Amino acid sequence: MTKIRKAVLPVAGLGTRVLPATKSIPKEMLPVFDRPAIQYVVDEALEAGIEHIVFVTGRNKAAIEDYFDSAYELEATLEAKNKADILEEVRATCPKAGSMSFVRQQAPLGLGHAIWCARDIIGEDPFAILLPDVLIQGKPGCLAQMVEVYEQTNSNVIAVDPVPADEVNKYGVIDPIERQGAMIRMRGMVEKPPVANAPSNLAITGRYILKGEIFRFLEDQAAGAGGEIQLTDAMARLMAQQDFYAVEFDGTPYDCGSKLGYLRATVGMALHHLALGDTARDVIKSVL
Ligand code: G1P
Repeated sequence: MTKIRKAVLPVAGLGTRVLPATKSIPKEMLPVFDRPAIQYVVDEALEAGIEHIVFVTGRNKAAIEDYFDSAYELEATLEAKNKADILEEVRATCPKAGSMSFVRQQAPLGLGHAIWCARDIIGEDPFAILLPDVLIQGKPGCLAQMVEVYEQTNSNVIAVDPVPADEVNKYGVIDPIERQGAMIRMRGMVEKPPVANAPSNLAITGRYILKGEIFRFLEDQAAGAGGEIQLTDAMARLMAQQDFYAVEFDGTPYDCGSKLGYLRATVGMALHHLALGDTARDVIKSVL
């Protein structure tokens, strides 16, 4: 079985739902407690054994590339001031040389198109996709749980999470057949179905392990929901040829795509912070 070595992180979105905060900063760089949102997603990928990350970026996203680089002047200053602990934290954000690539999506044609933009760097092997709008708290992380299912089944794997029935129209939704523990076999999936026609309330959570054949379907994928080229539509077609499993993962997803989602993520991540969690709890209580 081919090991999952590469992951695609689509980061070209404009962040319109969190404006004006994102007017001059990529939404992925907004802080969620003590680090940019994107750091949590990269850490989840690395924990799952990912060795190379492909960012699909757009205009005005250079801050992401700069963040994942060494910062010579900053590091030299911290060193001169004997701030060893902060220096260590800063250095930890710098990935292994050559382990990140950046490609641009030149037009906002949809998630499916963004993933397709990474095809030359990914090649034919199975790979992971992590949508950085969704931060997931879990131990082990969501992608690591999915890699386990992939290794068990050698199939395509997607993460799902139950959502309130009247919110299914915001997500990709699966049509489940049967459950085997946390694993769910399914017969289909649909992007943003009307509430009345949704096949279930199991929403696709923004984590995927897909076989390289998905690119063949993305190549000619017509625009779907919202007039965009949808990854869900390409997966539904690939499902006619290959097995798919959904995983109802153990963990808490936070949708950072909205202002209140950010707030929830910030509170959640602060409370779970290894060193500052307890103090953060007191601070939050005192504000309430
Ligand atoms: C995307 C996917 C959708 C998934 C969602 C998770 O939608 O297309 O299937 O459920 O992410 O956040 P978006 O939120 O980009 O509209």
